[in-house]
Amino acid sequence: MNARTTRSLAATLSLTAVLAISGCSSESGGAPDSAKPTLTVSGAFMPEPVDDKMAGAFMIVTNDSKTPDKLTGLTSPLSDDLQIHESKDQKMRQVSSLNVPANGRLSLERGGSHVMFMGLKSKPKVGDKVKVELKFEKADPITIELDVKDRTYTGQSSSAH
Ligand code: CU
Repeated sequence: MNARTTRSLAATLSLTAVLAISGCSSESGGAPDSAKPTLTVSGAFMPEPVDDKMAGAFMIVTNDSKTPDKLTGLTSPLSDDLQIHESKDQKMRQVSSLNVPANGRLSLERGGSHVMFMGLKSKPKVGDKVKVELKFEKADPITIELDVKDRTYTGQSSSAH
């Protein structure tokens, strides 16, 4: 084995190690619990609010496990009152939870279910990040950052990472 091969092999190995470590970042220590669903959140954004009263948020929660789960609530430093809304017949109403089906996804998209921030403590602008913690019936809470986008932004394709 020549020196170049050895070096690239070493680089490959260290990269693999980094990936392995970041891959289990959702583990908070302790024995793995097979009953807990594996959830990931992607494409999370908030359209720039029109006023300082309320703002919507959209995202996709993917469940890569055989265990169904439920989104049961959210918290954020931006508001003390985050609600889960469902849209039916052009009207939105608050619901206590939304299903995250096994081997499926919960899509919070424009025109459908969404998160609603009531009583904003400040008014975010395009380019800002808004921290949100999602709470689930079974899975551990997940903290994400919403990208504040232009009001006309509708989200990336759901296959994006
Ligand atoms: Cu709403």
